[in-house]
Amino acid sequence: MAPLIRSFRPRSWRPQSLCSTCTYRSTRVRYQATNSTPDESKPYYVTTPIFYVNAAPHVGHLYTMVLSDVLKRWQLLKGKKAILLTGTDEHGMKIQQASAKAGSDPKPFCDKGADIFKTLAARAELSNDHFIRTTDAAHKEAVEYAWHLLNERGYIYQSKHEGWYSVSDETFYPESQVHLVLDPPTGRKIMASVETGKEVEWTSEINYHFRLSAFRDKLLAYYAENPEWITPQTKMKDVVSAVTAGLEDLSISRPSKRLTWGIRVPTDPEQTIYVWLDALINYATAAGYPWAPGEEHAGGWPADVQVIGKDILRFHCIYWPAFLMALDLPLPKRFLTHAHWTLGKQKMAKSTGNVVNPFFALDRFGTDTMRYYMIHDGGIDNDADYDNAFIIERYKKGLQGGLGNLASRITRGKGWSVRRAVERFAGDDQSKLPFGEEHDNRAAILEFGKLVRDFPQAIDGRMQALRPNLALKDLMNNIYAANAFLQAQSPWDIASKLKAGDAVPNADSAEHAERQMDYVIYLCTEVLRLSGIMLQPVMPAKAKYLLDMLGVADDRRGFVDAQLGADKDYGESRVPLGKGQLGVLFAPLTSDS
Ligand code: MSP
Repeated sequence: MAPLIRSFRPRSWRPQSLCSTCTYRSTRVRYQATNSTPDESKPYYVTTPIFYVNAAPHVGHLYTMVLSDVLKRWQLLKGKKAILLTGTDEHGMKIQQASAKAGSDPKPFCDKGADIFKTLAARAELSNDHFIRTTDAAHKEAVEYAWHLLNERGYIYQSKHEGWYSVSDETFYPESQVHLVLDPPTGRKIMASVETGKEVEWTSEINYHFRLSAFRDKLLAYYAENPEWITPQTKMKDVVSAVTAGLEDLSISRPSKRLTWGIRVPTDPEQTIYVWLDALINYATAAGYPWAPGEEHAGGWPADVQVIGKDILRFHCIYWPAFLMALDLPLPKRFLTHAHWTLGKQKMAKSTGNVVNPFFALDRFGTDTMRYYMIHDGGIDNDADYDNAFIIERYKKGLQGGLGNLASRITRGKGWSVRRAVERFAGDDQSKLPFGEEHDNRAAILEFGKLVRDFPQAIDGRMQALRPNLALKDLMNNIYAANAFLQAQSPWDIASKLKAGDAVPNADSAEHAERQMDYVIYLCTEVLRLSGIMLQPVMPAKAKYLLDMLGVADDRRGFVDAQLGADKDYGESRVPLGKGQLGVLFAPLTSDS
C-alpha cells in the first residue's frame, strides 16, 4: 500500500505510520451522524467562530461568545460533560496588511490581538475549555494533514484563477456579485461586493482549487435529510437555495509572494493555504484532529452546536461540510446562526469604527448584566440595536424590579419564614394543599402552581431549540407572574392579621391561615429557586448569590433539581439578609443611571 504522507504523522499517534486505507477507515463515519452520538463519552462540544485579530473586539464579538457559553453551560446544568472552544483567526491577507499598517511583524501583532480576545473571554466569564490560535503549531499540523488528505483523494487541482478578491471578507466573488460604487469616505469609484459592500480587487494567478462543485448533490441530500441542521430555518433555506443554484470550485491557495502570512501548501511552498480553509479546520484541531484510531470522538468531534454570525453562513454551512465530506469526517450536528448588533441602526463593524467597546460596557454595567442583556435582546432572526438606555431599562425592569424585587420580598419578608414554608410544602404533595374547595383564591393558586410545575420543561424546550433568548424571556415572564401573584395574594395581609390576632378570610384557624400564607410564599420561593438554577448559565454570579440567599446546597443546583418540590432542604439563607443594601441582589445602578 502506498504511504499516504511521507513525513507527516497525526499528532496523537506519532509512532505509527500512516497509510491511506487505515486512516480512511479509522475516521470513516457517515455524514448523517446528526442525531446519533458515536460515543457516549463524547463531550457536548460547542464552538464560537474564531475572531480576526486585526482590530479590537466589539460587543458583537462578546455576543457570539456569550451565546455559545450559555449553550455550553446549559448542558453542564443538565449533567452532561460539555466543552467550549473559542480562539483567534490569525492568518491571511487581512492580518498581513493590518500588521504591516501597524508597523509590526505579523506574529507579535497577532500575539497582542489574541491576548485581547483572551482577556475579553475571561472578563465575560466565558467557560471556554480551549482557546485556539491558528498560529498554534498543532493547528498548522492539522491543516497540513487535511491538505494532504484532500490532495490524496483527488479533491485539489491547480489552475489559473481570475476573479475579484475582497481582503476584508477574505473571499473571491464572482463577476455577478460585484458592482461599481462610490466609496463614501473617499468619493473614489471602487468595485465592491454586492453582499457586504467591501472593496474587491482583481486578481489573476495560478493557485490550487478545491472541487467544491463535486459536492453539490451530496450537500443537498444532506440538507434534505437534516432539515433542522441550521437554526433559524430561514438560514437553512438560504443555504439550500445557494447550493441549488450551483457551486463553483473554490480557490484554496494564494501565491506566497502575495500572501506570506499563512500556512504554506505542504507540497508547494510557493503557495499559501487560503485563510478560510485554514481557519475552519480549527474546530477539528481543538478536538484533537488528526485523531488516533479509537480517539475520533474523545475530543468532542463532531461539534454539537457551532455558533456563527449570519455573515459567515456560506463558509460554515457550504464550504465546511464539503471539506468534511471530502475528509470523510462527520459533520457538526447543528448550527446556530445569529443576527447582528447595530448601533444607531447601522451595522456594528470594526472596519467602519461604528462599534461599542465591550470592556467599557462590562465595566459600566457588570458582567452578569451584560450577559443578561446580550441574551435577552440579542438577535437570532433579526438584528438588534444596541443602546445603553435599553440596558438600563432591562436592569431596572427585569433584574431590579422583577427578579431582585421578588427575591427581596420573599427572603426579607418579616411575617413568614422561608424555611418553614419549604418544610411544610416541599415534595409537591397535592394532599398538603392548605385550602379547600371553598377557598376564594383556589383557582388562581392552582393555576400558579401549575405554571411553576411546568416552566422548567418549557425553558428546557427553548434551549433544546437553540433559542436562549426565548428561554430567558419566558423565565422572566414567570418572575413577573410570580410578583403579580404575590401582589394579588398579599401574604403580608395575612401576616399582619395573624400578628394582630384578627380573623383571616377563608381560614378557620390561625394555623390554617398561616399554612395558606406559607403556601403562597412557598410557590414564589420555588419560582426563585428554579429560576436561580436555570439562570446560572446566563448570570453565573447573580444566580449563585440568589441560590445562596435561598440557602440552596451547592450539590442541589442542577437541572434535575429544577422541579417544583424537588428540594426539601433549603430555606436558611447562606448570606446575610439585613436591611438596606445587605442581601440585595441588584443594587441601584450608580451615577447617571
Ligand atoms: N475569522 C472569521 C471567522 C472564522 S471561523 C472559522 C470572522 N471573524 S470576525 O472577527 O470578523 O467575526 C467573528 C464573529 O463575530 C462572527 O460570528 C461575526 O458574525 C460576529 N460579529 C461581527 N460583527 C457582529 C455584529 N455587529 N453583531 C453580532 N455579531 C457580529 O468572521
